[in-house]
Amino acid sequence: MKNTVYITRKLPEEIVNKLSCYFHVRMWGEENIPVPREILLKEIENVNGLICLLTDQIDNEVLSKAKHLKIISNIAVGYNNIDVQSAAKRGIIVTNTPGVLTETTADLTFALLMASARRVVSASDTLRNGEWGAWSLMEFTGQDIYGATLGIIGLGRIGEALVKRAKGFDMNVLYYNRTRKQDKELELGIRYMDLKSLLQQSDYVCLMLPYSAEVHHLIGREELSLMKKSAILINTARGGLVDEGALYDALRNGEIWAAGLDVFEQEPLPLDHPLLSLSNVVTLPHIGSASVNTRLGMAHLAADNMVNVLNGDEPITPVLASINGIEVN
Ligand code: NAP
Ligand code: GLV
Repeated sequence: MKNTVYITRKLPEEIVNKLSCYFHVRMWGEENIPVPREILLKEIENVNGLICLLTDQIDNEVLSKAKHLKIISNIAVGYNNIDVQSAAKRGIIVTNTPGVLTETTADLTFALLMASARRVVSASDTLRNGEWGAWSLMEFTGQDIYGATLGIIGLGRIGEALVKRAKGFDMNVLYYNRTRKQDKELELGIRYMDLKSLLQQSDYVCLMLPYSAEVHHLIGREELSLMKKSAILINTARGGLVDEGALYDALRNGEIWAAGLDVFEQEPLPLDHPLLSLSNVVTLPHIGSASVNTRLGMAHLAADNMVNVLNGDEPITPVLASINGIEVN
């Protein structure tokens, strides 16, 4: 009998066709609206595979109903939306989509850095609103990028791709990572720093590490107070890494100069969120990996993981969990 796969969002036809060659496919029919929780809880009861997005919380409640589930294939590299330990205990494989989105996300991160530094969005809004008076010496002046110091927190795939872009702008690059990577220091020409020193010395601080409970509000009031008044915070990792209340205060009071944010503690960001009242913040709707090729590449990788696992082969990109200190997938 064919395995059944549930997809939590309407995906492009080529992905559905690929999966339909092997499986009975069920799919939530909306492209821009997440599957309602009660529907997910019902669908999960009878399926063997789940393809989900980062907007779906695959927690213990969902997993406790997933009696026949063998694989959860997340269309994202970050997997903080999934209770990976609970899945592992139930023998359910979890996969993600690393690598295929690295360069595209690094591009967007650098775009956000440049837009925040040079006030691209507020300057453009001024023109569109008919408020452009005359060329004046200090209007719309921003911060230099070339030759400045970039501090990267989390030197993984995307962090490393960011270094290559920064080097093209003659930036001096510092990094903090939970494990020091001395081979990368030599190869990329970067310097390791403890978190406090990195925050004190950087002109730009980019968050490029995964979110977990241990790093909730890694950047809070105290960390922001260590940064230069001219510094810019860029977050394309996950919203929960930053205490948004503390960030709002720091931006409003001129403790730091600007921020560029692609991710938020609550997504979609509510329109009455205080951060949206500030002109020194560039906000984007979580579009780090959003190029046509990359998003299709992510969906294909998620589908290929599904095909492999349900056909008895190894997953291509498994997420490792640890049970009693032993890594499993
Ligand atoms: P990755 O290759 O796994 O890199 C993550 C890096 O962070 C690793 O070097 C890791 O260190 C380090 N790290 C983990 N926990 C840490 C901690 N507590 N303190 C300091 N460093 C820590 O992941 P990636 O592919 O670069 O992706 C990074 C994150 O970007 C994803 O998890 C996701 O949340 C986010 N992302 C966002 C978008 C978007 O659309 N905005 C797109 C793609 C990714 P080790 O080497 O010691 O493991
Ligand atoms: C996007 O945020 C991802 O983790 O892929």
